[in-house]
Amino acid sequence: MASITIRNLDDEVKELLRRLAAENDRSMEEQARVMIRAAVDGQIGPVGRIDQIEKTLRELTSVHGAATPATALAGKSVPRGSLSGKRILLIIGGGIAAYKALDLIRRLRERGAAVRVVMTSAAQEFVTTLSVGALSADHVFTELFDRNDEHDVGHIRLSREADLLVVAPATADLMAKLANGHANDLASTVLVATDKPVLMAPAMNPRMWAHPATRRNRATLQKDGISFIGPAKGEMAESNEAGEGRMAEPLEIVAAIEALLDVGPRPLSGRKIIVTSGPTHEPIDPVRYIANRSSGKQGHAIAAALARLGADVHLVSGPVGIADPAGVKTIHVERAQEMRDAVEQLLPADAAVFVAAVADWRSENSAGEKIKKVAGEGPPVLRMVENPDILAGVGHHSQRPGLVIGFAAETQNLLRNAEAKLKKKGADLIVANDVSQASGVGPSGVMGGDRNRVRIVSKAGVEGWPEMSKDEVAARLAALIAERLKTIVV
Ligand SMILES: Cc1cc2nc3c(=O)[nH]c(=O)nc-3n(C[C@H](O)[C@H](O)[C@H](O)COP(=O)(O)O)c2cc1C
Repeated sequence: MASITIRNLDDEVKELLRRLAAENDRSMEEQARVMIRAAVDGQIGPVGRIDQIEKTLRELTSVHGAATPATALAGKSVPRGSLSGKRILLIIGGGIAAYKALDLIRRLRERGAAVRVVMTSAAQEFVTTLSVGALSADHVFTELFDRNDEHDVGHIRLSREADLLVVAPATADLMAKLANGHANDLASTVLVATDKPVLMAPAMNPRMWAHPATRRNRATLQKDGISFIGPAKGEMAESNEAGEGRMAEPLEIVAAIEALLDVGPRPLSGRKIIVTSGPTHEPIDPVRYIANRSSGKQGHAIAAALARLGADVHLVSGPVGIADPAGVKTIHVERAQEMRDAVEQLLPADAAVFVAAVADWRSENSAGEKIKKVAGEGPPVLRMVENPDILAGVGHHSQRPGLVIGFAAETQNLLRNAEAKLKKKGADLIVANDVSQASGVGPSGVMGGDRNRVRIVSKAGVEGWPEMSKDEVAARLAALIAERLKTIVV
């Protein structure tokens, strides 16, 4: 995947990009991507001078930006200053995921947090104090017996001057040390010496994570009041390794931090919202199933964004490889029928957002035993039957939530299909996205990727949102839901 190196751009362009990014609450890289996409789409005409480009881009971003009250509100809800005034002490442990801590620092600082960093000596094998110091804009603390830092008992000061301690990546070793009260280097001493809340984002090889010692340590730490985010299932940074142990993504950690610090406006406080996410797995026999490529990234991001706005979020998730979002009650299901049952049991609710890619069909009789290949008999014939339509069921339910939102993932006739779905399913809004390979969204398309380009289809018409990250789509949609629910009195 090609990446955009902002520092190689001319100063004038960089300055323009910085301003537009700030105005649109995007990172500079994301702003550059939106602009390049717009240029490819032919939305930027033949322009020459930088002021003319700026004018065109302003028009372009304002067309997509604050066109409606909902998107104007969404602008505010993108959490640029959500951690303003908060002081985070980040402890980086010695794991491969230490590189993700660099992005975490950036994400925290762009939300206004002051970030101070302690690195273990193993962490310094993976990332340098130089990069960490440059990103945190502060001295990086590494030594327990440091003449400069310890004249005023630095390890106690580090904890006293923080609102929250975050350990990312939390190694098996750091978890073991804290679970047993060891304090033999700066990181472990600060952790034992603190009375502030602690959030750990574990990252390790799946076998290390599954080891009974690590399980025991995690249970002890949880009993001691330590919070956890992740780890997630999936591919590990080491080649040929997959399983549970991958560190939560930086934005997931940020969401967990925001939830722990209870920051930001909470317009959805007191509202119960159901979200479905991920694919469903429809069994053929005990070892085989029918599935789809949904990753759950968009649905989980929406659940997290709604929780950040104060909603009581119940996420019904199909099988996914990402961590449960912080501050959300997650129910794990496999099949469409289980998802339908879980959703119906959660009614009544103020709103329901159906993001899951539910299989339309299932095998009529899933075999009780593994279907064997028998010479001469040929392949088994699967008779398919329709799965329950969860969106339509809730859209026409006697306990229908005041606001029902469906997603329409289409590969052709996007708008026509979305408009038909809106009518047929009793939904208030359909979020339509083009999941075809030709959509041109992100480097790897919408399904499984990190970016999305959606259209909001309602009786009032269609509103197109520009391509953005799934987290941004989630923040905007959460703001739209908050706006809509204002007018729905329970
Ligand atoms: C290449 C390499 C990768 C490692 N990755 C991890 C990891 O992801 N998680 C982990 O718990 N330990 C990992 N380790 C082991 C830790 O670095 C080791 O336990 C170290 O003592 C941890 O020190 P710390 O907890 O003080 O940072 C790795 C070691 C090596 C050599």
